Amino acid sequence: MPVPKAELHLHIEGTLEPELAFALAERNGAQLPFASVDELHHAYRFEDLQSFLDLYYRLTDVLRVEQDFTDLAEAYLARAAAAGVRHAEIFFDPQAHTARGVPFATVIDGLWKALHDSERRYGITTKLILCFLRDLSVESALDTLTAAEPYLDRIVAVGLDSAEVGHPPAKFAAVYQRARELGLRAVAHAGEEGPAAYVAEALDVLHVERIDHGIRVLDDPALVQRLVRERIPLTVCPFSNVRLRVIDKLTDHPLRQMLELGLVATVNSDDPAYFGGYVQENFDGIRDALNLTTDHLRTLARNSFEASFIDEYTRARYL
Ligand code: HPA
Ligand code: ZN
Repeated sequence: MPVPKAELHLHIEGTLEPELAFALAERNGAQLPFASVDELHHAYRFEDLQSFLDLYYRLTDVLRVEQDFTDLAEAYLARAAAAGVRHAEIFFDPQAHTARGVPFATVIDGLWKALHDSERRYGITTKLILCFLRDLSVESALDTLTAAEPYLDRIVAVGLDSAEVGHPPAKFAAVYQRARELGLRAVAHAGEEGPAAYVAEALDVLHVERIDHGIRVLDDPALVQRLVRERIPLTVCPFSNVRLRVIDKLTDHPLRQMLELGLVATVNSDDPAYFGGYVQENFDGIRDALNLTTDHLRTLARNSFEASFIDEYTRARYL
């Protein structure tokens, strides 16, 4: 039995498996620039974050109607349940869809059809995290937040993703301020390809409660000390880091060092359809690569619930 865990860094669009992409393309009469599932599998070799994002956004084009988003989320829930996930805080990228003419309501209603009774059907509680694409404008982010207002009961937080370098967190100060006024919590991708300074900026300017990735903090020992002291969680994604060449190989991954420094690190899958595995494969892979002990694994599972936005009562059941 896989250990019970929360998954806190998972892009629902990144769970689009090649087989489902082809099935949806056919259902919707969409064109994919690949002849077969096999050919698409071969495209999953990335140079860096941007080369991945190019394919990730290209494939979202098969997601067009509510049912597509429901099917996508259902497929994720089934896999997550098998991996011992009890709680999932799921990123979605509305601008990747609204920019193609798919209404915000289509995206969130489609996802919610799968998610609203996920606890009863899969034993997994779920919340959505609305991510802004940081390479788009502040105005576009503010418009997206306005579109989300009727759905705030489905959304626990805002996040920030897409191309990091050159798009520092402070660009979105006004957007996060507005999100806070709406009662939303806040996270941000920082220190994946970008520098440790972006992590500090996300904390100081956006007032995020959690950092997504964050492995570059190790370049700044004073910042590490601060994260340890303030118990700021980092949602680490080992397979992603290797596939996007943030690190060379899994055996070089700093996760063990992060845990031993006292950082509240968690293990997550990021975009599992693209990076070679879901959260349990990430756990197993990093355990073997770094010879993690049972204690490390227990800490990772405990951290995942501590770092989550579930209410205190539910959290107490897991800790
Ligand atoms: N980083 C930034 N943006 C993303 C990612 C990621 O790992 N996955 C999907 N969008
Ligand atoms: Zn991510």
